[in-house]
Amino acid sequence: MNYGRDIERILISEAEIAKRVAELGEQISRDYAGRDIMLIAVLKGAYMFTADLIRKIEGDVSVDFISIRSYNGTTTSGEVHLLQDLKAPVYGKNILLVEDIIDSGITLSYLKNMLLARKPGSFKIACLLDKADRRQVPQVIDYAGFTIPNEFVVGYGMDYNEKYRNLPDICVLAPSEYQGDKA
Ligand code: IMP
Ligand code: MG
Repeated sequence: MNYGRDIERILISEAEIAKRVAELGEQISRDYAGRDIMLIAVLKGAYMFTADLIRKIEGDVSVDFISIRSYNGTTTSGEVHLLQDLKAPVYGKNILLVEDIIDSGITLSYLKNMLLARKPGSFKIACLLDKADRRQVPQVIDYAGFTIPNEFVVGYGMDYNEKYRNLPDICVLAPSEYQGDKA
């Protein structure tokens, strides 16, 4: 795919993503062997990662979706809003929460508290990208795809103001695209 000047560079290519997602799927299949998994995809950012990951997991897997909002443009608001809750109950299930990026960790701690209160049988976290240097709330991530630097990324389901989700690679957005944003 040809990218315009709004994309600074490709950070992780489509092929690298596919390889790593397959590895995560194999690891998850081994760890849960014989046990049902309920994947919970955090919308919208994690939908593409979830769609690829689920096809690399062997065994009985169900999927449900939760929709939250914490970002305005490129900055976290620090406040998490639940836009749409799960359809299925979590009680007693082996939950694997699937996130696109863990940045400050604020969104994850909100989701974790909410879901643990519903008493799942087990609870683990998979995230594609980890901005480890940015953490404000420490988090244990069971399955992490890539650790990335503190740059704003788009593509492979991730957006900037709802654009760029369709890019097949994970790309660094040119800072000129969001210079008007408050830091
Ligand atoms: P946190 O609450 O600061 O950990 O923010 C996590 C959420 O912010 C992620 O699930 C993403 O949806 C979003 N996010 C953080 N960094 C980026 C980025 O570089 N690009 C797109 N979305 C991001
Ligand atoms: Mg997200």
